[in-house]
Amino acid sequence: MDKLDLVNPDLYLSGVPRDYFRWLRDNEPISWHEEVDGPGYWVFSRFDDVVSANRDWELYSNSLKGSSIEEARSEDELVARRRMFVNQDPPQHTRYRKLVSSAFTPGQIRRMVPLIEETCSRLVDGLLDGEVHDFVSVAEELSFQMVATLFGVPESDWPALIEITRVMADFQDPEVNPGLAPRPEMQRDIAEYALSLITDVRANPDRHLGVVADLANAEIVDDDGVHRLSDSEIVGFFPAVLVGGLSTTAHSMTEMIHSWVEEPTLFDPWRGQECPSAFVEEFLRWRGPVMSFRRTATRNHERCGVHIAAGDKVLLSYASANHDERHFPQAELFDPSRDPLDHVAFGGGGPHFCIGAQLARMDLKLVFGELLRKIGTVELASDPQRLRANQFAGWLHYPIRATAV
Ligand code: HEM
Repeated sequence: MDKLDLVNPDLYLSGVPRDYFRWLRDNEPISWHEEVDGPGYWVFSRFDDVVSANRDWELYSNSLKGSSIEEARSEDELVARRRMFVNQDPPQHTRYRKLVSSAFTPGQIRRMVPLIEETCSRLVDGLLDGEVHDFVSVAEELSFQMVATLFGVPESDWPALIEITRVMADFQDPEVNPGLAPRPEMQRDIAEYALSLITDVRANPDRHLGVVADLANAEIVDDDGVHRLSDSEIVGFFPAVLVGGLSTTAHSMTEMIHSWVEEPTLFDPWRGQECPSAFVEEFLRWRGPVMSFRRTATRNHERCGVHIAAGDKVLLSYASANHDERHFPQAELFDPSRDPLDHVAFGGGGPHFCIGAQLARMDLKLVFGELLRKIGTVELASDPQRLRANQFAGWLHYPIRATAV
């Protein structure tokens, strides 16, 4: 079988290459891939390898070269990437992640439920007016509002910030990012916004709540003692959390509608009722939006008889691991009753396990429930368009017409 260029975003314009991943799992579970503009990379495609590598952060580092598939073009870009905690290793990662983790506790998420319910209800009712709606915009509005609220972004800034976040998240798609400008230029906009918000938080502490306000007051203990976070350290939290939160949850919602359009009876057993948590978990296993994350090997080692050298790039394929028949029998079937349902859509349980998992689960449970209760029929109004991206599987446009039950 010819190797596919998994780094090329064009590949995913026709969807996740699931047959290819099955071939890799069966024939070359640790598989070397040459790269046009890079050093080449190993693909880990089986569940067990993805989980164990994901947990072994000392052997598979996020910090050495970052967690994105494409190489940083310069040392400066790498330094900028490492300001985001997703591109750090413990113990630095642990210290920084702890500063925002208090915003994502189950208690905080429960407090968001009335807002999520109200927003879901309004947005789903809006779909039922007989007009054509691009479901991607509906899904993004819902996902973004929740993350922005948690983060403490004032509502008046939402429209501008959602635009900046979309360019950051979907920077590989020419419609969103004409000319496919390099990432550092795009980060400037979000950094400028973040700095203006931090300045206002520092000047008017009584007017602000949420993660940004917590970060402005946070103290961090490192080898040099205790210090307050600098503005540029706080800026580093914005792209990771906003981008992580906007696109992933939104893509999951659009993919649910797509699955419904493709197979109109698929969700019949769950229609007209609350959405069970197992439905959400199985949906994320089956069609989770995050295809892979990158690691870099820190030392020479052997895995499954293959020699991996220090400095080698490693792609943990969550999309493949979640369909590994060795762990999930009949993996291609959508079956919320399967047991176990320990998917890796949010990561394999290592230190970088998705910090927004509880928020995403709650968003999806409530929006899926609302869709399953209120929508009678849903059909495509014109051709949908997949997103050009090599890390997130998603849609750029998904025009639908829906009717009420
Ligand atoms: C269905 C929705 C989502 C999926 C499938 C998803 C998936 C993931 C995955 C696979 C990782 C990497 C895990 C690893 O490498 O071990 C991750 C990390 C992360 N996610 Fe999510 N995510 C979702 C929603 C969210 C939301 C709502 C937020 C924020 C509000 C968020 C913020 C983050 C952040 C900040 C990280 C980096 C964590 C770290 O490095 O410690 N994600 N996510």
